[in-house]
Amino acid sequence: MQTIDKKTQESMVALRRDLHQHPELSSKEQRTATKVCEFLDQIKVAYQPNIAGTGILAEIPGQQDGPCIALRADMDALPIQEETGLPFSSEVKGVMHACGHDGHTSILLGTAMHLSQQPPPPLPIRLIFQPAEETVKGAKAMIDNGALENVALIFGGHLDRHYLAGKIIVTEGPVNASSDRFCITISGQGAHAARPHESVDAVVVGSLMVMAIQTIVSREINPAHPSVISVGRFDAGTASNVIAGQATLEGSIRAQEPEVRKHLHDSIKRIAESVGQLHDAKVKVEIIKGVPPVINTHEMTVLAREAAIAAVGNANVGQLATANMGGEDFSYYLDHVPGCYVRFGGQVPGNEGFPAHSSRFDFDESALSTGAAYYASIAELAGQWVLKNR
Ligand code: NI
Repeated sequence: MQTIDKKTQESMVALRRDLHQHPELSSKEQRTATKVCEFLDQIKVAYQPNIAGTGILAEIPGQQDGPCIALRADMDALPIQEETGLPFSSEVKGVMHACGHDGHTSILLGTAMHLSQQPPPPLPIRLIFQPAEETVKGAKAMIDNGALENVALIFGGHLDRHYLAGKIIVTEGPVNASSDRFCITISGQGAHAARPHESVDAVVVGSLMVMAIQTIVSREINPAHPSVISVGRFDAGTASNVIAGQATLEGSIRAQEPEVRKHLHDSIKRIAESVGQLHDAKVKVEIIKGVPPVINTHEMTVLAREAAIAAVGNANVGQLATANMGGEDFSYYLDHVPGCYVRFGGQVPGNEGFPAHSSRFDFDESALSTGAAYYASIAELAGQWVLKNR
């Protein structure tokens, strides 16, 4: 059982409040990075700053050299005006830690503090402080700059107000969806609103396309495999008496399995092009790939669950209640090394709270200790696992 001492708990709360008060947008986490470095200096943990911009790689030595166990935290905030009324509310207009990344950074620093006071773990621990998760650029950039060099396994977690503080949610299989975008350009023929026979109406073609695209998820995909296609933008026309010759549709595509993801991409293309052909409009379909889904393998889930039980006890380890269709760039790390992504319950008891990415999002700060206890356990158990299985 890992217990996080009072001093570490208090440090994490103080750090979290400081970061919360001074949020920084993706790729602009300069002050945050400075704070992380200052704290690492205080607890005498070695690090390299300025990785992929504002990222930091720190390392805690293990009993033996060899491959590292990586733990990852994201550091960025969102362009949201805070409305929580908390005494440590954001001092930056229009910027807020509305996804709990202030908590993630504090948890990882608390973990570093805890580990640096304990006998060394079996293998070295690499701490990854990643910028720009919200724009899904950070993980890739950190990997390109060596974050996973000599890493055997990687673990991460997200605060989640759907679950009570003190709980850790460990689920095998997909735990975050892929997140891609599409852009469809329709070129018809503009004309006078009174003379439709002289036009190819891009608004009508686009409208049919919006409706036809809805049948992909509802009629083509197995309902047991969650997926979403949302048309978020439909841009066309200039005046009420002009038939639009051009239209643009943009939307978001989410899926939990790589096969479903590919099916959605192919079907959007097929349906959009067919609807265009049906009405003699030229159609260009662009799929802009974002993050792949985060998929926890059986083996790594077993290991993570063991660490979660060591941290909070069996009764407090749960499963995702429903599929999570949000994206998370932790998936890029899992493309390179095995690992597991969990969720730390952050709900304030009796208060369902406000969703992540809302102006009133908050979490129960006792979740910080839960997160650090989990990381401390996985640091130990994952090291043992690597030594046993290599
Ligand atoms: Ni987040």
